[in-house]
Amino acid sequence: MNEISELRKKYLNLIDSAETDSELEDVRISALGKKGEITSKMRELGSMSMEQRQVKGPIFNSLKDEINDLIKDQKDNIEESCLKLRMESEWLDLSRSPRLSDEGSLHPVSQVTEEVIAIFASMGFTVADGPQIESDYYNFDALNIPPEHPARQEFDTFYVAGDERSGSPLNVLRTHTSPVQIRHMERVKGPCKIIAPGRVFRSDYDQTHTPMFHQVEGLAIDKDISMANLKWVLEEFCRAFFEVETVELRFRSSHFPFTEPSAEVDIRCSWIDNQLKIGEGESWMEILGSGMVHPKVLEAVGLGLDKYQGFAFGVGIDRIAMLKYGIPDLRSFFDSDLRWLKHFGFSDNDFPAMHSGLSKF
Ligand code: DAH
Repeated sequence: MNEISELRKKYLNLIDSAETDSELEDVRISALGKKGEITSKMRELGSMSMEQRQVKGPIFNSLKDEINDLIKDQKDNIEESCLKLRMESEWLDLSRSPRLSDEGSLHPVSQVTEEVIAIFASMGFTVADGPQIESDYYNFDALNIPPEHPARQEFDTFYVAGDERSGSPLNVLRTHTSPVQIRHMERVKGPCKIIAPGRVFRSDYDQTHTPMFHQVEGLAIDKDISMANLKWVLEEFCRAFFEVETVELRFRSSHFPFTEPSAEVDIRCSWIDNQLKIGEGESWMEILGSGMVHPKVLEAVGLGLDKYQGFAFGVGIDRIAMLKYGIPDLRSFFDSDLRWLKHFGFSDNDFPAMHSGLSKF
């Protein structure tokens, strides 16, 4: 018996002083492993008489169980103290200010595009997209601009070589976002309300023209859409975009091959001391082109003429960015001059949303 309590005492001590998992494992092996002290004691039971076995068996077994339990407890203790140690050594001060990094800024074109999307989204328009390299068909023909049409010359088109092997004809860099109208109507063949912002290209370069610029196209198709809806949508857009309580728009009769009737839209403004003010004054400034979708365009996309009608419009994104943020030269948009970007760029905290003061709806 003495021997057993000696053994017990020895292992209780060893377990208690084990400080790591591997030390504890060594203790377990030397007590309960195949050749462990307690294991060999238990093996002795085999050579004992029945009576002896009945007395010693339970004692050995309870010793084994006790040692097993203590090892388990000690394992938990070790784990806990390791965790505590880690938490102390890996302490992180969340109140320290972050290291300053070089921050970029959002380009005015990105900012204004997001503003435009937010405003039209609030009126139920979704965003549609189309390719920048377009076929002649989508950029011109389907929009009622046949090859001999004089409007083709006005567009200063960049042509892109077609693939001769497949016999595909010349492509163009799209000269406007209007082809997205066609692609979208072909897809949905029914009512829709979309805007399509994106890059367009024309061979032109001066203070107000660059070979690449941005437009946003608008299109609404349904059974009873009228010019009145167009006027309301554009007024609401201008009010929200220019952040003025009242706007006055003037619809000036015009001509686009893809709309009938067509109107260029001017906004009331004043120019005083070289300062532009939208919404008041005696001047008018042209801001976009619009009209009712031409029957030939509806026909080209297979929309029943007797069933559907709709309006369309096209706005220059860079142009309205210049007006809203007082940027004088369009060419500077694409110079990648860091000083310019810092001055006219936006922080991503300025991300536009209808609830962030963008609109006076
Ligand atoms: N695509 C025209 C352009 O680039 C702009 C435009 C005018 C678009 C009238 C329209 C529209 O959808 O109805 O000059």
